[in-house]
Amino acid sequence: MTATFDVIIIGAGAAGLFCGAEAGKRGRRVLVIDHADKPAEKVRISGGGRCNFTNLETRPDRFLSQNPHFAKSALSRYTPHDFLELMARNRLTWHEKTLGQLFCDQRSGAVIKMLLDELETAGGDLRLGLQVSSVDHVDGRFRVEAEGDALECSRLVIASGGLSIPKMGASGFAYDVARQFHHNVIMPRPALVPFTFSGKWKDAFSELSGVSVPARVSAAVGAFDEALLFTHRGLSGPAVLQASSYWREGEDIEIDLFPAGDGFDRLKQAKAAHPKRGLANAFAGLFPERLASRLPDWLDLPSDKPLGALSNARLESVAKAASSWRVRPAGTEGWRTAEVTAGGVDTDELSSKTMESRRVPGLYFIGECVDVTGWLGGYNFQWAWASAWAAGQGV
Ligand code: FDA
Repeated sequence: MTATFDVIIIGAGAAGLFCGAEAGKRGRRVLVIDHADKPAEKVRISGGGRCNFTNLETRPDRFLSQNPHFAKSALSRYTPHDFLELMARNRLTWHEKTLGQLFCDQRSGAVIKMLLDELETAGGDLRLGLQVSSVDHVDGRFRVEAEGDALECSRLVIASGGLSIPKMGASGFAYDVARQFHHNVIMPRPALVPFTFSGKWKDAFSELSGVSVPARVSAAVGAFDEALLFTHRGLSGPAVLQASSYWREGEDIEIDLFPAGDGFDRLKQAKAAHPKRGLANAFAGLFPERLASRLPDWLDLPSDKPLGALSNARLESVAKAASSWRVRPAGTEGWRTAEVTAGGVDTDELSSKTMESRRVPGLYFIGECVDVTGWLGGYNFQWAWASAWAAGQGV
């Protein structure tokens, strides 16, 4: 027996559930499938359980992709305000934490319930714990084999996400399907991920594990002013996670410990107030104590002389050293902790309006599996909603 649908969506995460609801509203007969027993598990754990579901500062330049123009259309047609209307219709409320990041007051479970309610109201079916064994395209129709069941549809949407956090069911399914249908896949790589270090820096950072400091962290492209956190294995914290998305193996990152640009002034003030103090003591007034005591050594600065013995030119060079501190990560913590996957299904072969394949009519890719990756702070969910909405109008 073959069960027939207008639209089959593989992946019941943020993008898949939302796309199912949108397609259902348009009268399409929809089935959403997931191999996991529970839907949208990444929504559940997101934002520390409060789901940072969008960002008010959403702009195309806050997304990485080989084609920086691709996301513009979808992001402009389904905006954070559209999602807020959906939340309000479902009696969900939110608050802004910082930098435009919106979190759900009723926690992430309520966002999942909203997505499931929307799908059900739109008449969509959901089957969980179902393993797809093959996808074929014959005579303009897609045939999906799943645990002995044959499922058929004219529109197939791949919403199975990226490779981050394999223990949560992440798989390379989307990339396999893309390659099967002769799509190019931009090499997926872990993004929004902590850096690891080896040798001297691993030991040094590990000693400071748990210390956090405001900093500007830059990789080859992009500079991010947020917190930097020392960990047992290296560096983390929002500023570091953001920079990691732009980092490539073998490159340095640059850390500015005076992100407000006032390092020289603050050191001059310290010299005037306490000329007999050494640099580590002066730093103690500016940074967490454990960091302050190590910095002179790490940055190769004079720790034996009192501040009063350092010329202003020397103080300026000290401020400069703390503002342009370059270190080279050994790598990242990889898929185990990466919040998202950068790279993915090449956007060159997708319609930016509907997410439909230019190679195989009726085949769509949405959400994280596509080569569009947002900054930290709700941007990746906004991409999931926007790309799902675009496909939902097209299928
Ligand atoms: P998603 O991964 O959500 O869903 C894919 C679905 O497909 C899953 O249900 C999976 O089980 C299923 N699947 C996979 N392979 C399959 C197969 N072979 N067959 C069938 N089903 C399959 N973003 C943000 O904007 N704000 C935030 O606060 C956070 N926080 C956050 C925390 C943590 C710890 C992580 C790991 C990630 C975040 N993110 C985030 C990122 C965000 O979770 C992510 O970008 C979206 O969930 C992507 O949505 P998708 O629907 O594309 O994939």
